[in-house]
Order: sequence, then C-alpha cells, then structure tokens
Amino acid sequence: MNNFSVDLSGKTAVVTGASGGIGGAIAQALLDSGARVVCLQRRGDCSLSGDFRVVQADLSSPADTFRAAEEIAAQEHVDILVNNAGISLRHHFEDFPLEDWQKVMQVDLTAVMQLSQVFGRPMIARGEGKIVNIASMLSFNGGFTAAAYSAAKGGVVQLTKSMCHEWAQHGVNVNAIAPGYFHTELNKPVMGDTARIQRITAGIPTGSWGETTDIAKAALFLVSDAADYIHGVTLPVDGGYLAV
Ligand SMILES: NC(=O)c1ccc[n+]([C@@H]2O[C@H](COP(=O)([O-])OP(=O)(O)OC[C@H]3O[C@@H](n4cnc5c(N)ncnc54)[C@H](O)[C@@H]3O)[C@@H](O)[C@H]2O)c1
Repeated sequence: MNNFSVDLSGKTAVVTGASGGIGGAIAQALLDSGARVVCLQRRGDCSLSGDFRVVQADLSSPADTFRAAEEIAAQEHVDILVNNAGISLRHHFEDFPLEDWQKVMQVDLTAVMQLSQVFGRPMIARGEGKIVNIASMLSFNGGFTAAAYSAAKGGVVQLTKSMCHEWAQHGVNVNAIAPGYFHTELNKPVMGDTARIQRITAGIPTGSWGETTDIAKAALFLVSDAADYIHGVTLPVDGGYLAV
C-alpha cells in the first residue's frame, strides 16, 4: 500500500464486516502489516491473503453477536478491534418502521458496544489495546431518508468518547474514523441518483470520492504505536468534505 507501513507482527485483530468494501481493505492492510486477522462477518468467504480466519455472525442479532465474540475471545488474544460493519436502511422518517430502526441501531451501534465490552475487558486487564470504530459523515450531518443510520453513527462518535473517558487510563486507545464518500455496496442505493451524486462530489474539496485504502491507511495509523497518545478522536477521511 504505497510507502506507508507499520509493523503489527505478533498482533491479532478482529475486523467486523471484512468480506469486502472498507472492512476488506482494512483487514488486508492489517494482514499486510503482519497481523493475524479474525474476520467477524455474515458471509463465510473472504478474498483476503494472509493469516486470517472467518467467524460468521449476524450482528443484527444481539445473541449471535455475543456468541461469536465470546467464542473468539476464548480462543484468541485480541490486541486490535475494528468495528467496521454497518448498514443503512432508507425510509422517509415519518414512515420509518420500528423494526428497521432497531436493526440499524443494533448493527451500527449496539454491536459496537457489545464487541467492545467483550474484547475490551482483556485489553483493560493487560493494560493495552486499540479499538477503532467506523463512523460516518452522517455522524455530523443529518441523513436524508437515513435517520436511523445518522442517529446510530452520531452515537458511535459519542460512544467512542465515552469509552475513551473510561479506558484511556487503562492503556486502551479508542478512536473512530469518519469516512467521506466511497464506492461500496452501502452506497449502491444512491448511485443511480445522478443529481445527488454530482451534488455530493461538488462538496468534496478534492473533487473525488475516496479509495477504501484511504480508510485502511488511517486505521493502520490509529492501531499503530504512532497513535499511542491519541484517544477519543473521530478522524474524518473525507477529501475535506467536512471542512467546507
Ligand atoms: N461507503 C461509504 O461511503 C461510507 C461512508 C461512511 C461510513 N461508511 C461505513 O463504513 C463501514 C463499511 O461500509 P462499506 O462502505 O464498506 O459498505 P459495505 O456494505 O460494503 O460493507 C458493510 C459490511 O458490513 C457487513 N454487515 C452488514 N450487516 C451485517 C450483519 N448483520 N452482520 C454482520 N455483518 C454485517 C457487511 O457484510 C459488509 O461486510 C460501515 O460502517 C459504513 O457505515 C461507509
């Protein structure tokens, strides 16, 4: 990945939603940096190369989330947790079905809490660990037909700060990354809306959408020793979108 490298030899990372998109890029970057990676994901397959294994779980189920996390925690010494998996279900707010609201909240926010608890406790006991949560531009801006996603991702930023407040003293770094706009499955529903895409692109100072490796590089930095004194931040990786 260009000339940015960190050495994660001997470290084990858990990455949620690692089957593709941003999670796939983060998992591959961790593998390329020498880490062993446990992919906690819905799908059984992964197009990664390196020392990885897949543990399947449906993060929309609180019980399945705990089951998978406890299973991994019993077998692995987890140094790094990347809470990447996310969904957006779109409805006009006045008609937003409660079931879809709860599903988005569970996958995007509550699963982050559950996994951070299970993998965070041993980190606290050891006095070190790195957790990176994936937020969004909609952590800051209101979403159009994406109220649940926006509320959940706003929650991810606040959860990141709260976890930092309690866990920085135990040597556990908790930070977040807020991706700008990336061509992944998540954005497929809006890709056909040319006017909207043009409006978004015009609002990005670089004039372009990001590459998933841009997020992976930021994640590598946050899980590396270089970020040892960085706690509780949400780092936008957005081509300047939030700045203007
Ligand atoms: N693409 C963007 O422009 C963008 C912008 C801001 C934030 N994000 C965030 O980045 C993260 C990754 O998204 P992406 O863009 O790569 O989209 P994606 O749809 O390609 O990836 C989402 C991942 O989450 C997993 N996932 C979804 N529901 C799950 C469930 N119930 N159980 C287990 N895994 C589940 C999917 O399998 C997939 O691996 C998400 O948190 C998303 O909100 C993306």
